[in-house]
Amino acid sequence: MTDGLPAVPGLPMTRGRCPFDPAPELGVLRADHPVARMEFPDGHVGWLVTGCTQVRALLSDRRMSSRGEALRSPIPLPMATDRTEPAPGMFTAMDPPEHTRYRRAVAGWFSARRTRTLEPRLKELAERHLDAMGAGKGESPVDLVTGFAEPMAASVICELLGVPLSERPAFARAIKALFAVHSSAEEAIAGWHALTGLLRGLVEAKRAEPADDLLATLVTEGRLTDEELVTVGSVLLTAGYDTSANMIALGTFALLEHPEQSAALAADTSLAERAVEELLRYLTVVHAGGIRAVGEDLEFEGHRMAAGDAVSLSFAAANRDPVLCALPDELDVTREPVPHLAFGHGIHQCVGQQLARLELRVAFAALFGRFPGLRLGIPAAEVRTRPDMIIYGVQELPVTW
Ligand code: HEM
Repeated sequence: MTDGLPAVPGLPMTRGRCPFDPAPELGVLRADHPVARMEFPDGHVGWLVTGCTQVRALLSDRRMSSRGEALRSPIPLPMATDRTEPAPGMFTAMDPPEHTRYRRAVAGWFSARRTRTLEPRLKELAERHLDAMGAGKGESPVDLVTGFAEPMAASVICELLGVPLSERPAFARAIKALFAVHSSAEEAIAGWHALTGLLRGLVEAKRAEPADDLLATLVTEGRLTDEELVTVGSVLLTAGYDTSANMIALGTFALLEHPEQSAALAADTSLAERAVEELLRYLTVVHAGGIRAVGEDLEFEGHRMAAGDAVSLSFAAANRDPVLCALPDELDVTREPVPHLAFGHGIHQCVGQQLARLELRVAFAALFGRFPGLRLGIPAAEVRTRPDMIIYGVQELPVTW
């Protein structure tokens, strides 16, 4: 059934002239058909939702499902993880009540109050990575992705989980292999195995020597089995890494390309929190999410959605919807924060959002504080982006100062 609507041939991913704007087709769809039919890579005809109101409504509708067996990726993935039963602990691909049990086990670690206590340590980490990036500068530009964004994101999430310093390079390598832009299916699977192997070792070490980090506390509490602990740890490490690393690098690119915005921010540091919120909205790095399935037959805005239909809810299109704010296609760091969807919405809304906000605020302040003359090392048009990945960003960002 196609509901009388023509089906869009796949999720529009190719960007137009501006690397910060989502695929232009998404805006056209949002205006004409905020709820449209879409053909998924496996030929299934499901739904593509681009209107902010509609995306938000479906994300909080209990009749929508995140069960791994029901999901279909809107883009061809190297690692075909979709339509399989989720491993114990893979709570991103579960519905209540299983989802609730795992989410409760970790949520307290990401509260606003607890996150605030991490600020001094995050500042130290940022300064340390900037020391290393600064020391690596020679005649040619330095890559901000490998020099700052990735090591910063990796160390923040390792710090939280309690990965000892000596093991961080191995963790960082495994996570990077898993997310490498050009990694083959075999390499991505090898990266996942390396990561879960490292986590297994870490769980054993925490059992032998209790500590006060997230993983050690979960081990001591004894609510989750070792298998669940390894998967929950991997979910946190991977969910918190690629997103943050890409937001740091793409956010830097956006600030460098909007000098009036970075000048406003430099002139008034009290804008720092607003700037992070606006960059999250404007850039929406989770540009191929969210991914859901219809759990039971339902009527939505005059459409009949059938149980089992795959649904792609575009956070990127929703965050540029004129119902959300005036001039949604403009980056404005002075904007009153708006209820954007960069962290999703509903029961799966990003559990690490307070940590992510803090990490971004600390990273941008440290970077532009250390190198006020930071500029691109190549023409903006030559910066290579990664539109075909679930998480959008830049492949590298050559900078100089
Ligand atoms: C700028 C950085 C980040 C962005 C833009 C981001 C974005 C998102 C989005 C959009 C979702 C919802 C996906 C959906 O509903 O389908 C999500 C979920 C999630 N995020 Fe983040 N995230 C970021 C950083 C982090 C960090 C630092 C952590 C820390 C561990 C984290 C952990 C998670 C987890 C575990 C989920 C799944 C929650 C659930 O299924 O209940 N994220 N994130």
